Amino acid sequence: MSKSILITGASKGIGAATAERFFYADNDVTDLILLARESEEFEKLIARLTDDNPYGKRVLPHFIDLADRARIVGLMRDVMAEAGKVDILINNAGYTAPCALQQISFADFERTMGVNVYAPFTIVQELLHCGNTFELIVNIASTAGMSGRPGWLTYGASKAAVINMSEAIKEELSIYGTRVVCISPGRCATDLRRKLAPDEDPSTIMQPEHVASVIDMLASDVGHLVDSQNFVVRR
Ligand SMILES: NC(=O)c1ccc[n+]([C@@H]2O[C@H](COP(=O)([O-])OP(=O)(O)OC[C@H]3O[C@@H](n4cnc5c(N)ncnc54)[C@H](OP(=O)(O)O)[C@@H]3O)[C@@H](O)[C@H]2O)c1
Repeated sequence: MSKSILITGASKGIGAATAERFFYADNDVTDLILLARESEEFEKLIARLTDDNPYGKRVLPHFIDLADRARIVGLMRDVMAEAGKVDILINNAGYTAPCALQQISFADFERTMGVNVYAPFTIVQELLHCGNTFELIVNIASTAGMSGRPGWLTYGASKAAVINMSEAIKEELSIYGTRVVCISPGRCATDLRRKLAPDEDPSTIMQPEHVASVIDMLASDVGHLVDSQNFVVRR
């Protein structure tokens, strides 16, 4: 049976590595629904996949700012009309603007919660409203959601919410046979990590492809054996 995967934050980093991992594999995932804002990086990825498509898969890209909740609702209806279903959902997009407590603007806190928490919630809820039954949902949290760190208040709080929300979704959707796994990566060499730790040498830490390989494993037959609430992935 052919399956569809929806990946948020697919333009770069872990999301792009995950998209490429599923796209360049002879597996049962035939439709890739890729979400990010419009950017040169995202356009290049779409062009790369479209030009070199060894298994004849469908690439269905959508430009969206995930802080815009009303647009997510509309987009999920379009996705269902276009793809018919979403079997595998990877809630990967993430936003951070590290900042000392005294300087945090409430608008930025709201944006962080919007992209990191309300967007994955809205995607899941709206697709359920559209009658979708998921096989697998992977929510990307962070080890920053498991302990507080100076300057990372808004990011850490949002990721703690993702960990807890994943448990609730897992319990509520188990009646449909949906598996829900939360992944908390440690340090991974991406643009987001560069914002959090500008002086770090990216070659010394985990690479996006490593996280993508764990997501791939979760979607495989072996993944059915994983029954974890919050899966820490680190090098
Ligand atoms: N890198 C790490 O060390 C690390 C550790 C733990 C957890 N994580 C988590 O891993 C996930 C992926 O991040 P990454 O490390 O791969 O970072 P990244 O390379 O900076 O990618 C972030 C992705 O999120 C998307 N995104 C951000 N804000 C968005 C918005 N408002 N609307 C739509 N898309 C938006 C970006 O798309 P645009 O092109 O639209 O910007 C991009 O595709 C995030 O949830 C992050 O919190 C990362």
